[in-house]
Amino acid sequence: MRRGVLPICAFPKGWFTVALSHEVKSGTVLKQTFCGEEIVIFRTESGKISVLDAYCTHLGAHLGHGGTVEGENIRCPFHGFCFDTKGDCTKTGYGTKAPKTKIYNYPVIEHYGIILAYFDPERNAPDWSIPEVEMTGWLYPKFHTWQLESRPQEIAENSVDIGHFSEVHKYTAIQVHKNLETDGPFLTAKYSMERQAFAFSKSKKIYSEFEIHQWGLGYARVEVSVPAMNLRSRQFVLATPIDEKNMFLRIGMSIQSLEKSSQIHPLLTVLPKGLVESIVLKAGIKGYIHDVYQDFKIWQNKKVVHPPALAEGDGPIMPYRKWVKQFEY
Ligand code: FES
Ligand SMILES: [Fe+2]
Repeated sequence: MRRGVLPICAFPKGWFTVALSHEVKSGTVLKQTFCGEEIVIFRTESGKISVLDAYCTHLGAHLGHGGTVEGENIRCPFHGFCFDTKGDCTKTGYGTKAPKTKIYNYPVIEHYGIILAYFDPERNAPDWSIPEVEMTGWLYPKFHTWQLESRPQEIAENSVDIGHFSEVHKYTAIQVHKNLETDGPFLTAKYSMERQAFAFSKSKKIYSEFEIHQWGLGYARVEVSVPAMNLRSRQFVLATPIDEKNMFLRIGMSIQSLEKSSQIHPLLTVLPKGLVESIVLKAGIKGYIHDVYQDFKIWQNKKVVHPPALAEGDGPIMPYRKWVKQFEY
């Protein structure tokens, strides 16, 4: 089978990140290709976010090329027709009665800096959502975005592919604390491993635990704990199809507010806690970018082998692939 002819669907159903909150301030209109469709993302003056099909139902102008936010509406650059956040036409540019027309509006959720839209090729309403997690006592996440040639199915499979942890990431002492469990669109698993310490540890290898909470193929939240530093971080893995070939991969990281700076390193006690937290988060996301980037050469050049020739030592690849089927069509 040639690479590029994949036995997985290009645009699975589910919630996918279309932008980060800081990229869409009030009055901003962004355009994007999302699951092969042209969309616009805009935020009204009062702060409401909306994701609409990009094409105006009047005479077809692309709202992402010159469309503007006007109060709670987006105004088309061609004849000035306005549409609200639900996509309903509210007025024409001529001061005449607005036609009864609607631009498709994607279901949207916005959580701690992440804007997600629901994709379904038949445009059915979602029957599941991504629950919010308590972020009180956590720092606002830092993010990083890449564009690459791959699919969300491949990125999510990586987190159950225990076999590659040592080969690609050089993790050692890998242990499974909780085998893969699924519940509808939700998947979870927990591992521990030792990895090369980042800047603040005296010891060479550091023990960390990872608990994966994956909702659909576009969103994972990984709860990480490093007991030796009494440090907890929350990592986001956000995969979004662009077109048949390309996708965005965004990662995010937050850390739990520190009780005292000395828990990271005794020398840091002299610095204010807020400064130490921001140094730790910066170092943390840098390490995280480094780890995820190690997979890129594989992702961008691999093909999907199905059925795979598995061996003892592999993770739960087949149960994972069975779970994936619910999002494909
Ligand atoms: S095409 Fe949008 S107002 Fe005419
Ligand atoms: Fe990986």
